[in-house]
Amino acid sequence: LAFLFQQSWSDKSFEHLFSEDVSNISFPDNFIWGYASAAYQVEGGWDADGKSESIWDYDAHNHPDWFPEGQNGDVACDAYHKTDVDIDLLVYQGVKAYRFSISWPRVLPTGLVDNINEAGIAYYKDLITKLRANNIEPIVTMHHWDHPRILEEQGGFLNESLIVPAFVDYATLLWERFGDDVKWWTTFNEPKQTCGGGYDYGGISPQVRLSGVGGYICGHNVLKAHAKAYRVYDQKFRATQNGKVSMVIDTSWHEPASDSAEDIEASERQNLFHYGWFADPIVFGDYPEVMRQRVDERSRLQNLPASRLPYFTDEEKEELKGSYDYLAINMYTTDLAKWKDDDPIGDPSMSDDVSVTTYQPDDWEKTVTDWFKVVPWGARHLVRWIANRYGDGKGIIVTENGYHDNGNNLEDLDTRGRYHKLYLSNLNDAMYKDGVNLIGYIAWSLMNDVEWYAGWLVNLGHYHVDFYSPERTRTPKQSSVYYKKVVTTNCLVD
Ligand code: NOJ
Repeated sequence: LAFLFQQSWSDKSFEHLFSEDVSNISFPDNFIWGYASAAYQVEGGWDADGKSESIWDYDAHNHPDWFPEGQNGDVACDAYHKTDVDIDLLVYQGVKAYRFSISWPRVLPTGLVDNINEAGIAYYKDLITKLRANNIEPIVTMHHWDHPRILEEQGGFLNESLIVPAFVDYATLLWERFGDDVKWWTTFNEPKQTCGGGYDYGGISPQVRLSGVGGYICGHNVLKAHAKAYRVYDQKFRATQNGKVSMVIDTSWHEPASDSAEDIEASERQNLFHYGWFADPIVFGDYPEVMRQRVDERSRLQNLPASRLPYFTDEEKEELKGSYDYLAINMYTTDLAKWKDDDPIGDPSMSDDVSVTTYQPDDWEKTVTDWFKVVPWGARHLVRWIANRYGDGKGIIVTENGYHDNGNNLEDLDTRGRYHKLYLSNLNDAMYKDGVNLIGYIAWSLMNDVEWYAGWLVNLGHYHVDFYSPERTRTPKQSSVYYKKVVTTNCLVD
């Protein structure tokens, strides 16, 4: 393989930069090490073999400024045609798991199960079969932001009677077709982003601007779709397939800006409005009490006929409660949370509902792109908070973490490599000093890809991808060598 590595992927090898020594910071033998990706970001083949447009295809095709420099996911990393190449990379890297997403419009071009695209099914079947043949566990995301545009034309995640049954049918199809070979599932990826960004402030696809209202409706429908799908798994598939189903929820950690009671309350509230918005319902069956109180009260003061945060029926609460088999978290950074007096009652807005000031001090370490700061200790605080509030008996997996830069620097040991090392060292402290049951870590991402709104001007990959060549050549960065060392030794390299 070393030969292959040098010949066909790149003429650069960084192996010589690393000694064989590893530190004594070690992880358990069964720790799940992986890489993650998402369909729109890597696959390309946007209309290949019967696939229809997703909401991201649609925005990229109809709004030329959607991505910088006219970039888009039409070809992306061409992963749709490069399964064997990417399997070789994953095998070479020694990871135990590959987290990828299924493109809903690739398997169901109308969004509905009355029209199954067998070519799309075959693509994922092949990928999953090859992963399993190489002892790499597939971790499959059903919705990583790119649902069929045709569903959006009928209201998308704001239309409960459309989207909830459509998603449940789609999930059922995936379990029927792939459930014997896939044991780790996540229904939705980062619903705070898709609902807040997609339907509330409108900064991401499908760009619906319904401030203070759309995000909550979308979130409500995501949660109902998740719970109903989860119960279908219980009833029809769990006994024979014995897999695990969850939802990937993202958050920054929000550390109190001081030890004042107000700042501690502000931090708790911010964490609950972010992670708790989705985690409380799937664990406890309903929204966090502080969300319920504040959104109800502010809706009343706004003279609205009903609370902007919808209510679950008792039956729905029962379906939701405990609808997860592990906790999954995407985390990148930390903010300080500072108390502020309630925002005056004005037009509805989700951030006014929280009314907390969050910020990152100037002297915290930046990434090259300055999208966020490098705050490794926040990772430890965050998983500890999650374990304390929700319990960690079913295990917690970090399903994404990674370092942004312009994607072109192959010599990223001191930036990206160091970033993962520092975060992992703090997560190790959470495991061994705080007793958190962390069972896996999935790095974002295997290779440079089409980053939402940034195209390939900002990237997090451990492999560079030449987006200007038809071959989309993958070239290893130092970070890939570093990560390989970590995952194959279960130790943090000195
Ligand atoms: C979160 C998203 O799940 C993923 O798609 C994105 O590329 C990374 N974060 C990096 O921004």
